[in-house]
Amino acid sequence: MNNQMSDEKKVKLWDFPVRLFHWALVVAIVTAWWTNQQLMIDIHAIAGYSVLALVLFRIIWGFVGSSNARFASFIKGPDKVIGYAIKVPNGSISDLTYAGHNPAGGWMVVVLIVLVGIQAVSGLFASEDTFLFFDGPLVAHVSSDLASTMNWIHHTNINLIYAMVGLHVFAALFYLVVKRENLIGAMVTGARMVPAEIADKFAKIRFASPIVGVAILVICGLAVWAMVTAARG
Ligand code: HEM
Ligand code: HEM
Repeated sequence: MNNQMSDEKKVKLWDFPVRLFHWALVVAIVTAWWTNQQLMIDIHAIAGYSVLALVLFRIIWGFVGSSNARFASFIKGPDKVIGYAIKVPNGSISDLTYAGHNPAGGWMVVVLIVLVGIQAVSGLFASEDTFLFFDGPLVAHVSSDLASTMNWIHHTNINLIYAMVGLHVFAALFYLVVKRENLIGAMVTGARMVPAEIADKFAKIRFASPIVGVAILVICGLAVWAMVTAARG
């Protein structure tokens, strides 16, 4: 116990495409937020298209990516989520550590992906008619009722994103400060230190080819670009 470091092992946790997705998503969302404040609507739209491409990629990667990136590996029933949540206050790191998202974190991931996906899609139908005079690329293709509903969604859903991102970052900092677990570093480098007795769990992760991941991401980017170009006619 008094020499904990020697009982720790470095293990690989997140593949490159998941890490690229995460930090590119953060940059794109912050850019979309900031450019809205600055009334830079063209860059706002580009940041939003990037979010859409990233979300499309992540959905595909959730089926064909590394084993711990797959939805099936981290979407757990309420019994597991509650069981995990009860363990958090007093549980040891060995108890709380999963070779992927924990059962509570897994749902946070789903919620974040859905919310940012809704934001990006609703943006395609959003308009600003007062002084920027900007229409999302799909506004011209739908009824004005649908466009105004999507516009409302775009302006409302952002508040859910603020709340959930706040909770998400709070949770990451909680693990860092209270549990002394650096999950953030793992999302940057892909690796983390874990108690040696649980290192086996990580040896079982099957990593998918990062080149395939990046190729899928590029294709998603091209698909979004083609859709926007076609919609603008
Ligand atoms: C716009 C803000 C953010 C969004 C939308 C976001 C979204 C996400 C998503 C979707 C995942 C799941 C990753 C995957 O499996 O693909 C994730 C994981 C993660 N994020 Fe964020 N994130 C944001 C900001 C941050 C920030 C600022 C930090 C650091 C303080 C952070 C730390 C983490 C960590 C540590 C994980 C992995 C959690 C685990 O080990 O289960 N995120 N985030
Ligand atoms: C996930 C990506 C996106 C985020 C985080 C985001 C965020 C925001 C935010 C915070 C606002 C201001 C809402 C308010 O003041 O109540 C906004 C407005 C707007 N967004 Fe987005 N947006 C995204 C994607 C898009 C896309 C893809 C488009 C269109 C191509 C778009 C078009 C617009 C328009 C036209 C407005 C109205 C501007 C205004 O009322 O001043 N957004 N967005």
